[in-house]
Amino acid sequence: MARRLAAGNWKMHGLRADLAQVEALCAAPQPEHCDVLLCLPATLIDRAARLAQGRIGLGGEDCHANTHGAHTGEISAAMLKDAGASHVILGHSERRADHGETDALVASKVLAAQSAGLTAILCVGETLAERDAGRTLEVVATQLAGSLAEGADPARLVVAYEPVWAIGTGRVPVEGDILAVHAALRADLVQRFGAAAADIPLLYGGSVKPENAAQIFALQDVDGALVGGASLKAADFAQIIAALN
Ligand code: G3P
Repeated sequence: MARRLAAGNWKMHGLRADLAQVEALCAAPQPEHCDVLLCLPATLIDRAARLAQGRIGLGGEDCHANTHGAHTGEISAAMLKDAGASHVILGHSERRADHGETDALVASKVLAAQSAGLTAILCVGETLAERDAGRTLEVVATQLAGSLAEGADPARLVVAYEPVWAIGTGRVPVEGDILAVHAALRADLVQRFGAAAADIPLLYGGSVKPENAAQIFALQDVDGALVGGASLKAADFAQIIAALN
């Protein structure tokens, strides 16, 4: 059974002063039954790792598919690892939309991250138009298959279901829809990886808040959350962690 994971995604938020939130999170009693991870802007990872001293994990929000080279402005998986990251978010819908990232590119980033020793948090999720057209399961299945190339390692993989229309909107799918997507993702992962699929954490992401966290975490095959806005303040994120613990 997959270990539970409460992962925050700060996106393009956070200056050094905001590391006080990391300190506050580390000072709080640590949960027994779930891991805590903050995926931060790359500029903050090294300092956050020094502050955290292993009490929580740190992650990046993206990495390049290549190990090094002439790619101005990019960050490699090894650089994130070197700064203190254990995880990296890949294929987030904001990267797919803002930078035109394809499943094939995401697949190569997953391999790059895993080869560098990072765990890839692979994001999939449908747009509102796709949901309204009844295509949710087909879209996430296509993204999952296309984003996991031959050689992808199930032991260094987390999958996050993030419906695009639920991100930052306060809207959350009905329970039956989350259940159906997570069950389908698990079944696809079992087909792909066999017994190892049971240990891959499946996270839900999209408007997770202290008020709705317990209800979402009670659902079968929801092993945790990828939290945006509510991870920016330690007090809010700590309530979500408590709901998962
Ligand atoms: O990656 C997490 C994110 O996309 C969800 O954001 O603000 O709706 O929790 P938010």
